[in-house]
This record gives sequence, C-alpha cells and structure tokens, in this order.
Amino acid sequence: MIDSMTPIAVLGAGKVGQALALRLHEAGFHVWFGVRSAPGVRDEGAPKRLMAEPAPEPEELPVPEVPRLGIHDAVRHAGVVFVALPAAAARDVLAEAPLPSGVIVVDCTNPVRWDNGPVLDPPAEGSMAAHLAAALPSARVVKAFNHFGAEIQREPGMAHGPAEAYVAGDDAAAKADVIALANTLGFTGRDAGPLRNAALLEAMAVLWIHLATVGGQGREFAFRQDGR
Ligand SMILES: NC(=O)c1ccc[n+]([C@@H]2O[C@H](COP(=O)([O-])OP(=O)(O)OC[C@H]3O[C@@H](n4cnc5c(N)ncnc54)[C@H](OP(=O)(O)O)[C@@H]3O)[C@@H](O)[C@H]2O)c1
Repeated sequence: MIDSMTPIAVLGAGKVGQALALRLHEAGFHVWFGVRSAPGVRDEGAPKRLMAEPAPEPEELPVPEVPRLGIHDAVRHAGVVFVALPAAAARDVLAEAPLPSGVIVVDCTNPVRWDNGPVLDPPAEGSMAAHLAAALPSARVVKAFNHFGAEIQREPGMAHGPAEAYVAGDDAAAKADVIALANTLGFTGRDAGPLRNAALLEAMAVLWIHLATVGGQGREFAFRQDGR
C-alpha cells in the first residue's frame, strides 16, 4: 500500500514532475523531487555528469513546497519513484541510481519524435516501460500517467468526472497500489493489463498529442471509457 508515510521521489521537475509532485504534496504524500542540479543540492556519490548542468536561480525554482534532492539521494530510500524525465535520458539516469529492491517505478515517459506531428518512436523492447523494466530487474515497473497532458496530471477533474488513468504492469500488487494512488489523487484508476500493454498506453499518448496539437483540440481533454 502507498500511504502518506511512503517516501515518493519524482525524478524531473519539469512540466510533468511539477504537476504530479504538487498533486501528491497537496494530497498529503511524503514527496520530493530528484533533480540533477539545484541550488544547495548535494548528491553524494552521484556521477559527475548528473551534476553538470548549471543550477537555476532560486526564484525560478518550481513548486517551492516540494523539497529537491539530487537524484541519488532522492531514490535511495524511496518506496515509489515517478519517472518524469525525457525518454532518451530515463534509462541511464535510473540504471545509475541506487534504487531500493522492490521499489515501484512509475514510468510516465513517452518515446516520441516529431515529423509534422508526433510519431511513436519506441525502443527495441516495444515500450519505454519494458525498456526500463529490462534495465531494472529488482524494480517493479508500472506504466501510468503518460496518456494526457501535465494540465490533467495537475488537476484531473473533468466535465464528466475524474480523468481516467490507465495503469499497466506485471506485478499485481504494484499495479493495484498505483491504481489506488491514482484514485486517491482524484483520477479514476483503470487496470490496463500487463506491462506489454504499456506500448498501447504510449501509443495512446501519441494520439493525445496529435489531437492536442495537429488536431487543434488543445490540451484540456482526456480519453474516457464510455458504456451503456
Ligand atoms: N508534458 C506533458 O504534458 C507530458 C504528459 C505526459 C507524459 N510526458 C512525458 O513525461 C516526460 C517528462 O516530460 P516534461 O514535459 O515534464 O519534460 P520537461 O518539462 O522538459 O522536464 C524534463 C525534466 O527532466 C530533467 N532531465 C532532462 N534530462 C535529464 C538528465 N539527463 N538527467 C536528469 N534529469 C534530466 C529536466 O531537468 P533540467 O531542468 O535540469 O533540464 C527536467 O526537470 C517525457 O518523457 C514526456 O514524454 C509529458
């Protein structure tokens, strides 16, 4: 079970990282960012290149309520690690991080390139989540929170009810925990099946990006399962 005592690290403090970290913080979870650079952040034992970027000015720092640690220090004692990094960087960052055995890794990334619109560009394993799972055998990788924009991650309330958050994973307990977490955060968590279905969720994200950009629909929508 993921509860308010579970240490949660959000890797990346960009659009997705900020949205999810603030949502988690406001819901009472014990959350911090893992970032490669920030004023005053030391990351003992981290490879030098992870600290190579210049630090932002303090006034530019996002979400002041959520503490920032170096990536190594952020993940060292985490029970859950959200991956809100560019797909191209995620595997190397995680492979070098001291993840606790059994940690739940929530992969929010999307492997997308642009060619007059978004194009799915998955790694050889078929999805980013499978790619991360292959590199992190002691972690429990779950795909979630990738198939709508950061605005929805920040505020999941929609016109006809909570945004639906599809969750795919092979570890039943980890997947159930992330579905329950999604519900606690104000989404409707939905079981999307095994981790191989992460490929479908990443394709779903490409459709969302296409509709939001080329399709001209804007970013304030999410997919909803309907029925009768
Ligand atoms: N934007 C969306 O609406 C959205 C929605 C769903 C999923 N996604 C996916 O979520 C992921 C993050 O997207 P985003 O829009 O939040 O991106 P973003 O705003 O560009 O933020 C990316 C974050 O990753 C950090 N980062 C980049 N390279 C790194 C490295 N080598 N080591 C450590 N940290 C690194 C950046 O740190 P610095 O500030 O130091 O560069 C930044 O904090 C992507 O995979 C994206 O496809 C995005």
